[in-house]
Amino acid sequence: MSNNSRAGFATKFGAVLATAGSAVGLGNVWRFPYMTGHDGGAAFILVYIICVLMLGIPGMISEFIIGRHAGSNAARAYRRLASGKWWMLVGVMGAITSMIILGFYAVIAGWCLQYLYASLMGGISGDAAYVAEYFKEFTTDPLMPAVWTVAFIVLTHLVVVKGVRSGIEKVSNLLMPTLFILLIIIVIASCMLPGAWRGVDFLLNPDFSKMNHNVFLDALGQAFFSLSLGTACLCTYASYFKRSANLSKTACQIALIDMLVAILAGLMIFPAAFSVGINPDSGPSLIFITLPNVFHEAFGSMPVIGYVISILFYMLLALAALTSTISMHEIGTSFLYEELHVSRRTGATIETVICSVIGIMCALSCGASDAFVFFGKSLLDCCDFFTAQILMPLGAFLTSILLGWIVPRRLVHREFTNSGTVSRHVWRIYLFAVRFVCPICIIAVFLHQAGVI
Ligand code: PHE
Repeated sequence: MSNNSRAGFATKFGAVLATAGSAVGLGNVWRFPYMTGHDGGAAFILVYIICVLMLGIPGMISEFIIGRHAGSNAARAYRRLASGKWWMLVGVMGAITSMIILGFYAVIAGWCLQYLYASLMGGISGDAAYVAEYFKEFTTDPLMPAVWTVAFIVLTHLVVVKGVRSGIEKVSNLLMPTLFILLIIIVIASCMLPGAWRGVDFLLNPDFSKMNHNVFLDALGQAFFSLSLGTACLCTYASYFKRSANLSKTACQIALIDMLVAILAGLMIFPAAFSVGINPDSGPSLIFITLPNVFHEAFGSMPVIGYVISILFYMLLALAALTSTISMHEIGTSFLYEELHVSRRTGATIETVICSVIGIMCALSCGASDAFVFFGKSLLDCCDFFTAQILMPLGAFLTSILLGWIVPRRLVHREFTNSGTVSRHVWRIYLFAVRFVCPICIIAVFLHQAGVI
């Protein structure tokens, strides 16, 4: 399929918003706050920023180069740039990775829908034990989590099937500003609570005593996940960019938006948690167990505000998740319809069915059925581990080897500089990062996981 016969994003602004929508998701509003709570607040944020600058931005630019050069789905894009069919497997791996991520991600997005519904119905009010019990009962139910999971994937399907301009770009142009407004409203409400400053202090004052190599590895994993790296997602979206798009500038803009949302998410959660004396280091259950308590207690004397904030919060989570699931779905959809030579609708339907099956199994693995528990870990946890710790870093590693060492330098330079409009210094920094920094850091992560270092 030639470059011209594919509809791309209509505007550069739409392209940035859609790609930022992919990056901004549960990774920012759910994963980032609990990791920050666990890894020492501002100290973690500093390391995270370094990881984004050293690995995140060069990694994004590399995927952009591959996608925009080819103007096709990820598998074909890797094959075209590398002029070798084996490299196509990196694109295929990206499509498979994104299917697995969409499966388990939709389970958590489905929990958000349930909590949104429960908030609308009057909230999950009660003491801490009740809220914890509510979470356990809901997630171990054999029906509802699976129903919400499939509902979320079908919602994503309805956007993707409409195409890049009328579906993905239009919805991103609407959802991203809405998401910002919701975020700002909740941050203001949270920071006005008595004692909120302790949360702000936790977020902005680094405590270096908590620093160790695990903090670095956590920050690295978070940077991959949050910037959607190593899944061919950015490569797929870049295939819809205009030829005139400045790739390094676009990558910096997206990294900035992503970081801003993550920090705002911290400013939304920590001040409220500290104001009621709750320690925000409860891990993944932070937003489903700790926060309903926080809303209940913090706004106890203003129940209407508590009610509204709780609805806005779960709405925010669901919207953030949706802009990300759309991008995950598009990777598989574009791969399927272009490679199998079927319509976009058929490609999207196949993707929806595969991801729904993975999603249902992940939903059931959280307590409803033992059949999906492996070595004491739920399938959901296994999928999370396997994608974030192995497949995504592997995808990013192979991508940096391809661009840093295999593809002719001239070609990479031409795409990177838009035929000469980017400064030489920026180009040199990128080249150094992609040839040395990215591969070495990712190898270090793998060696650490294998227990060698
Ligand atoms: N970046 C998304 C988030 O932060 C997750 C994601 C991963 C999206 C991989 C697309 C591909 O939630």
